[in-house]
Amino acid sequence: MIIAIDGPAASGKGTLARRLAAHFGLRHLDTGLTYRAVAAALLANGLPLGDEAVAVEIARHLDLGVMDRSVLSAHEIGEAASRIAVLPGLREELVRLQRAFAHIPPGAVLDGRDIGTVVCPDAAVKLFVTAAAEARARRRTDEMLANGTEADFASVLEDLRRRDERDASRSVAPMKPAADAHLLDTTEMDIEAAFQAAVDIVSAAC
Ligand code: C5P
Repeated sequence: MIIAIDGPAASGKGTLARRLAAHFGLRHLDTGLTYRAVAAALLANGLPLGDEAVAVEIARHLDLGVMDRSVLSAHEIGEAASRIAVLPGLREELVRLQRAFAHIPPGAVLDGRDIGTVVCPDAAVKLFVTAAAEARARRRTDEMLANGTEADFASVLEDLRRRDERDASRSVAPMKPAADAHLLDTTEMDIEAAFQAAVDIVSAAC
């Protein structure tokens, strides 16, 4: 069984994906980490973000087992990830890895931007998780402050909007709901309510 979860940054899709995987006994892959890991390797070695051949080579050697969001969470890494995510050859390589992960029994929950549309169009259930940009920026700001990182609501909001715009307007695999995705708007929900709603959708579909 494969569950596809897509949506913009700070929509809550990552937390939902992790909790759904635990609930249904499935493996979990946060596909944003694959783009972040490649971006981090390019940045760490002072390599240009537009060099597709190098990015593909790094992607070929990625170890999905050692990627850790706490190490790859930096704002610059997210920005760089979103820039390299427009490279078609890199996407092809990462999608190959992500698909292979998804198809190992008993199946998996994958979250990202193009899971329902490109990576796993055959998923048993597809969720597109959204929330108003202000609600997402508020959550992201609170999360950063709780982690002891400086954060300013207005600039977090501006960053989120810029990244959404780039992710939704690129020509290869833009972020958009699959035609058969269930939309889950979490603007007015806390994580518990969103999780319950997601469990209900998955249970009804499987
Ligand atoms: O979700 P996260 O913020 O970690 O993703 C970082 C960037 O990676 C996104 O802004 C997006 O450009 C890219 N990404 C993507 N496709 C995915 C997951 C992430 O293009 N499936």
